[in-house]
Amino acid sequence: MSNRDNNNIARNHSLKIGIIGGTGGMGKGFAIRWCINHDVLVGSRDSARAAQSAEEYTKIAKDAYGKINGTISGNDNAAVAKESDVLVLSIQYENTESTCSQILPLIKDDCIVISPIVPMTKTDKGFEFIPIKENKPFSYQLVEKHMKDKTKLVSAFHVISEKKLANPSLSLDSDIFVCGDDQNSVNVVNGLINEIKGLRPIYLGPGSFSYFAEISTPLLLNAMIRNKIKNPGIKIV
Ligand SMILES: NC(=O)c1ccc[n+]([C@@H]2O[C@H](COP(=O)([O-])OP(=O)(O)OC[C@H]3O[C@@H](n4cnc5c(N)ncnc54)[C@H](OP(=O)(O)O)[C@@H]3O)[C@@H](O)[C@H]2O)c1
Repeated sequence: MSNRDNNNIARNHSLKIGIIGGTGGMGKGFAIRWCINHDVLVGSRDSARAAQSAEEYTKIAKDAYGKINGTISGNDNAAVAKESDVLVLSIQYENTESTCSQILPLIKDDCIVISPIVPMTKTDKGFEFIPIKENKPFSYQLVEKHMKDKTKLVSAFHVISEKKLANPSLSLDSDIFVCGDDQNSVNVVNGLINEIKGLRPIYLGPGSFSYFAEISTPLLLNAMIRNKIKNPGIKIV
């Protein structure tokens, strides 16, 4: 699969995009960006919190774009998982095992799962990569165990900050690394990345290469704090 093949992809038809942990910073960004064309389902452990976030994000999106073609609604994580065509695991590495073991058995057979999860910790030295520091699995490996069809798992969105994603008035100009085993699933995720103006998908290889994408985040954040760069991103030139 070449990156050129994957970049020129038509926009996805309208999808139901669920966001597990959608009340967090990244969830807000995904919802605000994708409601332009899709129905976004904000998931939470608490359905009332999800509904409240959905209302807040809808207002932000309508204020920013005037009109949206999709909708944003909220529900508990399990209900969201059952309904979604594409499901984003917008949760911390520490909560991955417990959440995925409950949620992923519920998804539709053809549901595509996106993992933006970064296994990272802050120490007195800076940001460190948990799989190397603590000899633990990287995120893709943790999630994969709970997938019915492992080829439907795609790793992406590790190197865009929530501050940029959740601010529709900021113009973006960066690359998003993508790893996955199934061409169709990767194409759908590339399409969703291309729909966010200023983002470009860069395919790195199979899911087993996801650690390259995941380690990019501590790399970027160390560069940020050591060199005083505000909200950095990655762009391959
Ligand atoms: N923040 C960034 O700029 C950024 C950039 C790239 C990648 N990422 C990755 O994207 C993922 C999401 O990041 P985030 O900053 O949006 O995360 P976050 O705000 O810290 O958390 C997301 C959601 O996780 C849920 N949650 C909290 N504790 C939980 C638990 N014990 N079990 C299950 N769910 C729990 C919460 O939702 P409820 O309480 O409503 O259930 C929370 O809103 C992370 O893996 C992060 O590494 C983040």
